[in-house]
Amino acid sequence: MPTTHHYDIPCTLGLEGALADELEALGAEDMRTRRGGVVCTGDLTFGYRACLWLRSAIRVQHVLGEFEVLQEKDLYDEVRALPWEQWITPDDTLAVHATVRDSVYTHAGFVAMRVKDAIVDRIRAQEGRRPSVDKKTPTLPLHIRLNKGKASLARDFAGESLHKRGYRPIQVKSPLNEATAAGLLLTAGYDGTGLFVDPMCGSATFLVEAAWIAMDRAPGLDRRFAFTNWPDFDRDAWHDIVGEALDRIRPETEARFIGVDRHAGALTLAQEAVDAADVGAVVKLESGDAATWRAPRAPDWVFTNPPWGERLTEDVEASWAALGEFLRSCPSANAHVLSGNKELTKFLKLKADKKWEVRSGPIDCRLLRYVVREKATNGTP
Ligand SMILES: C[S@@+](CC[C@H](N)C(=O)[O-])C[C@H]1O[C@@H](n2cnc3c(N)ncnc32)[C@H](O)[C@@H]1O
Repeated sequence: MPTTHHYDIPCTLGLEGALADELEALGAEDMRTRRGGVVCTGDLTFGYRACLWLRSAIRVQHVLGEFEVLQEKDLYDEVRALPWEQWITPDDTLAVHATVRDSVYTHAGFVAMRVKDAIVDRIRAQEGRRPSVDKKTPTLPLHIRLNKGKASLARDFAGESLHKRGYRPIQVKSPLNEATAAGLLLTAGYDGTGLFVDPMCGSATFLVEAAWIAMDRAPGLDRRFAFTNWPDFDRDAWHDIVGEALDRIRPETEARFIGVDRHAGALTLAQEAVDAADVGAVVKLESGDAATWRAPRAPDWVFTNPPWGERLTEDVEASWAALGEFLRSCPSANAHVLSGNKELTKFLKLKADKKWEVRSGPIDCRLLRYVVREKATNGTP
């Protein structure tokens, strides 16, 4: 019987439903949705599949221990009592990230240091040598959360955040990361069919994530994961899981994608992402202004996040008005717009028929759905 592990899988606030659906499809058990994530159980290889397949998750955390920390000494004792020799050797490196709320400890850095001390002391006592610390690329990345008297300590299967798919050479400064974009598509029920248009595509995040959904391509195929360096890594199981994922890719999808932007720099970044993600056969990029650019045939899906700023400017208002013009040219499309500023949506001159609250980076956003009726071509709501 494979051992059951407890997993805690965080996501962007508001995307818990999409993540729960993804986890269910992966065969997660005992699922419970929490604010900003889902907890569940599965065996060791479930963690591998979760890293490879989850589109909306940020991390896959395997909970190693949950215990009470009522006085300072409890932390060291409880951590040292865990069987670390199963998870780390003296030749490995570790890093501990801590978050602390309402605890006997007030300083997260100190908590992280005590956890590290307890682990290395246990390994040194057993093996005569100890693992060292590598804050940037540890073999064993750990997260401890102290909340009131309760502690949860987990190893991070992925290492780097799952939004880093590998198709973006530089992380552009955008509040919309790859996992959030994919989670929004799933939340909206994107089904990977028909013509998909992003008329303000920026660096093409929606386009690439949507194309990968349409092709049934696992989002983690191009990157490395921390668990492949662990003492309990099951290489054969991982080999099979990757092989199955490669077999599932459907490059022959009939879905098509068009991205438009008026900014040449954005289109250069978008083309780099499209090429790196290997979706150039189905994603086309065009230079144009949303106010006047028109799709070659009626789009089935429109998905976009227009610019927004802390203050309204004429330029930003004009972008939203231009998007309104564009949306009115797409009757019957399933149109979704991500907005980080309520004041701007009125410039679309359209009424949303559905809204989801999502937190993108530090910003409270809303995903708005518009179904444009045929007759609304004169700018009236
Ligand atoms: C917030 S960014 C989109 C970010 C994008 N989702 C990504 O993955 O990087 C908004 C984009 O809208 C573009 N834009 C603004 N007004 C436009 C207009 N009238 N027509 C076309 N593109 C426009 C900007 O050049 C910018 O790249």
